[in-house]
Amino acid sequence: MRVMFLAAEAVPFFKVGGLGDVVGSLPRALQALEPDWDIRLVLPLHDHLDRERFPLEPVAAFTVPHRNGPILAEAYTTAWDLPVYFISGAPILLESSVYAAHPSQDGPKYAYFSLAALELARTLGWMPDVLHAHDWHTAPAVYAVALRREHAPFWAHTRTVLTVHNLPYMGQGAGPALQAFGLPPAPDDSGLPEWARVLPLPLGLWAADAITTVSPTYAREILTPEHGCGLEAFLRARADRLTGILNGLDTTSWDPAQDPEVPHPFSPEDLSPREENRQALRDEVGLPHPAGRVPILGAVSRLTEQKGMDLLPAALSRLEAYPWQAVLLGAGDEEIATAWQALDKRYPERVKVILGYNPGLARRIYAGADMLLIPSRYEPCGLVQMMAMRYGCVPVAHETGGLADTVLDYDLAPRRSTGFLFPEATAKSLAFALRRAFAVFADPRRWRALQRRGMRRDFSWQASARAYAQLYRALAR
Ligand code: ADP
Ligand code: GLC
Repeated sequence: MRVMFLAAEAVPFFKVGGLGDVVGSLPRALQALEPDWDIRLVLPLHDHLDRERFPLEPVAAFTVPHRNGPILAEAYTTAWDLPVYFISGAPILLESSVYAAHPSQDGPKYAYFSLAALELARTLGWMPDVLHAHDWHTAPAVYAVALRREHAPFWAHTRTVLTVHNLPYMGQGAGPALQAFGLPPAPDDSGLPEWARVLPLPLGLWAADAITTVSPTYAREILTPEHGCGLEAFLRARADRLTGILNGLDTTSWDPAQDPEVPHPFSPEDLSPREENRQALRDEVGLPHPAGRVPILGAVSRLTEQKGMDLLPAALSRLEAYPWQAVLLGAGDEEIATAWQALDKRYPERVKVILGYNPGLARRIYAGADMLLIPSRYEPCGLVQMMAMRYGCVPVAHETGGLADTVLDYDLAPRRSTGFLFPEATAKSLAFALRRAFAVFADPRRWRALQRRGMRRDFSWQASARAYAQLYRALAR
């Protein structure tokens, strides 16, 4: 089985969010499960790749057809756990970060990347049995394979899988770029609403042999008007090819017993060093050490509408009467950042806001905070709740998407529970759940048992990698 993975980001090369975690770990998990398979990963050569750590070797040069004339592309590789290619070329150099400030500016870059990846396979004479694309950025490759299958023998046998990590991001504004690269709008009888017929993600969904999303609950939610983003009817008609496969974690990288970023290693068997991580976290961010056992609330997030982080100021203000401290780490939307900073000003002894992208601090928050706040309005899967649980930090999360699939609520099943869920993405609902969490926190024995259950849950890729392998086999048959 030859499998080609295509994505905008993958750890350890590039990471903006969970997509990078998933695309960095799933191919390796599949390779461990199926050592004979030939699995390769193709990424754009974003400018900020650490070339000292990953020295590049050229592997191929070719051109990608464009309305204004062919564009020269170059592919490079570097030593890694499995073959990985980086594609360069003028449209990728347009933007040095993985994503432009506004998604509508990313059309040419990712239309080019998707088609260049297909040209790379052809240049190498490497015919994939399965092309597995992720999100709108690489959906044009899925569409292009479907269009080429009929007349290009090279693509006649390739089956396509498109994984939706975030449905609202459809590649809005990329229509003209697709057309400039020779990808026409979908036909009138495609079943897609008219506005969607020029957008990368809908075109990929129309063309894909299989569609997956990153949790079973989100797979159901996108069939409803609330979460379907206008594609619910179209997706319902293709529900037979849609499955939800829960993300896993790279449990070697995410292990509190051997995480170099965590000052005091610990495990579910011996939780006591975790107390030192709590104190160290306070020192690192400048929170005072209060008398008594005061819970530290954490947040680690991209600041976007999706994540509901704008609800924190109102939720925490409702809990003024309770003792708590909070460490909030986030990057993104300025309005949300400003609201967080106002909270920090209002409660200088209680709240520390750190703006920016800081992977080391993220890990120390999971290892030192007591509760992780996750008020996402929707969440296709979510990795932060799994990371938190693995590090003994108890999630307090909105019951939606993958959060509902990975966190078991305390009141629902006290002896099996791993966190607290709340039914609505509102400040009131979050504050209510936090009150329940504070009550359990007050009893150290019950709290430790809750932490241990979360830490012992199996978040590895094993089961999910098997589900993907099965899907590939069914398609390639
Ligand atoms: P999403 O992909 O929607 O952002 P996930 O929960 O799937 O959400 O994954 C988020 C990933 O990004 C996690 O690995 C988390 O630790 C990391 N992350 C998010 N925000 C930050 C930040 N400000 N600094 C460092 N890491 C972050
Ligand atoms: C997206 C989603 C997140 C998911 C991640 C990896 O960024 O927002 O829920 O965990 O992709 O699949």
